[in-house]
Amino acid sequence: IPVDPFDLVIFGGTGDLARRKILPGLFRRYCSGQMPETAQIVGAARSDMDDAGYREMVAEAIREFGGGRACEDGTLDAFLARVGYVAVDAKGEGGWADLKGRLRDDAVRAFYFSVAPSLFGDIAERLQSFGLATPASRIVVEKPFGNDLATAQALNATLARHFDEHQIYRIDHYLGKETVQNLMAVRFGNMLFEPLWNAQYVDHIQITVAETVGVGGRGSYYDKSGAMRDMVQNHLMQLLCLIAMEPPARFEPDAVRDEKLKVIRALDPVDPHHIVRGQYEASAGDGGYREHAENPRSTTESFVALKCHVSNWRWAGTPFYLRTGKRLRARTSEIVVVFKDAPHSIFGAESGRHRNVLAIRLQPNEGMTLDVTIKEPGPGGMRLVDVPLDMTFAKALGPEAADVPDAYERLIMDVIRGNQTLFMRGDEVEAAWAWTDPIIAGWQKRGEVPKPYESGSSGPEDALMLMHRDGRKWRDIR
Ligand code: BG6
Repeated sequence: IPVDPFDLVIFGGTGDLARRKILPGLFRRYCSGQMPETAQIVGAARSDMDDAGYREMVAEAIREFGGGRACEDGTLDAFLARVGYVAVDAKGEGGWADLKGRLRDDAVRAFYFSVAPSLFGDIAERLQSFGLATPASRIVVEKPFGNDLATAQALNATLARHFDEHQIYRIDHYLGKETVQNLMAVRFGNMLFEPLWNAQYVDHIQITVAETVGVGGRGSYYDKSGAMRDMVQNHLMQLLCLIAMEPPARFEPDAVRDEKLKVIRALDPVDPHHIVRGQYEASAGDGGYREHAENPRSTTESFVALKCHVSNWRWAGTPFYLRTGKRLRARTSEIVVVFKDAPHSIFGAESGRHRNVLAIRLQPNEGMTLDVTIKEPGPGGMRLVDVPLDMTFAKALGPEAADVPDAYERLIMDVIRGNQTLFMRGDEVEAAWAWTDPIIAGWQKRGEVPKPYESGSSGPEDALMLMHRDGRKWRDIR
C-alpha cells in the first residue's frame, strides 16, 4: 500500500548510515511500489555538492548496499529523479532558507537526524527558527541515544524544547525486524502460547544476539561504549520487553509502549555475580579487540552475558539470560523460551528429561521452532524423543517470505505513516539507562577487567558457567 506523498530530509545524507541503510532502503521501497511518485528525498550535509553530485553518490551507495531485490531497468533513474541535495550548516545560517524552499506544504514532512547526537539540538532549533518544521512534521533520531541516564535526559529535554513526543521517532532497528514483530503476532494472535507464558510454566528465557564481526572500523566509537551500551541497553532490552510484557489492549503506540515500560521498571538490579564481560582475543591472521579498538589497555567489553529477573506476578522466579558479543562462532539472534518439565512422567525415569522449547530466530533464517516430545518410531518400546516443529518462514510461506524488508525500510515507512508503535518513547530509553547505569558504574568502581575469549567461540567460559551453576545450558550458537 503506497504511503502518502512525503518530503524526507536526511541530515547526514552523505554519512555511513545514509549510504548503507537509509538510501538503499528507500530505493527498495520505491521498487516495491510503496513510495509514491511524488515523494522527495533531500540529502543535507556540510559538503558542498549539487543535486547531480549527490545523485551520483546515492546511485553508488545503492549499487554497493542495495541488496539483491530485483528492480526493473530504469527504476534507479526514476528513483534518483526524486533525490536532491542542499548543503547546510548545522551550527550556522547557511543553507536553511534554500532547504525550506524545497519543501512542499501538501506533503508529509520528515527530518532524519543521521548525525552525531551533539548536533541534535542545533538542528532541531534551526528547523523551528527557519520555519521548516510544522506541527505535523516528524523527526527521526538514531542511537546512541545518550551514553547514560543523564545524557539521555539532556537529549530528551533538548528535543522536547522544539518537538512534541508524538513527533519524535527514536529508532531501535531491532523493532523493525520481521520476526520481532512476529513475536507479538505469535504471543497475542494464538491461544496456544499466552496461557503458558508465565513463571508457572516457563523455566527460563534466553536471548542471544551473537555476531561474527569484530569492531574493526568502529573502534573509536565502540571503545567508549562497549556491548552493554551498544547492544544490551537498547536491542536486547527491547526484545526482553516484547517477550515479557503484558498484552496491550490494542496494537497502538502508547498501549504497546506503556507495557514495555512497565517491564523495564520491573527489572531487579543485577547481582554483579550474575554478569560476565568478555573481550575477544587475536586470532590467526587478525588482531584482537584491543588492536581493533586501537587501545592496548582497553577494558571495554565486546561480550556480555547476564541473568536478570522481571519482578512481577507473571515472571517471579523465572530468570532471563541475556547474551551478546562480537567475534562469536556464528551470526545468530535468537530468543528461546524453555518450558518446565511435565509435572510427572508416566514413562518412568528411563525416558529421560524432555521439555518444550520455543526458539524464535530473528536472523538468519527467520522463523520459529517448537520442540515437542514424541515417541521414537519403531518397536523399541516407549522411548521418547524431542523433534522440532519447524516454522521457518521461507519453508512455510514460500520463498517470497524469506525476502522480508530490511528493518530500516519498514521503520522509515512507519515514520511517513505516522505510526510510532515500533519506536522507543523517551521514558523507555531513560528507564533502560536507569537499569544499565548501575551495572556499568559497578564495573568501573570495582576496576573490573573483561575476561578474554577466543574469536570464533561462544564467549568466555564464565558465561557458560552462569547457566551451568543454575543447572541450565545455553542453546548452541550456530
Ligand atoms: C547496532 C550496533 O546497533 O547493531 C552494532 O551498534 C551491531 O554494533 C548492530 O553490529 C547489529 O545489528 P544487526 O541488524 O546486524 O543484528
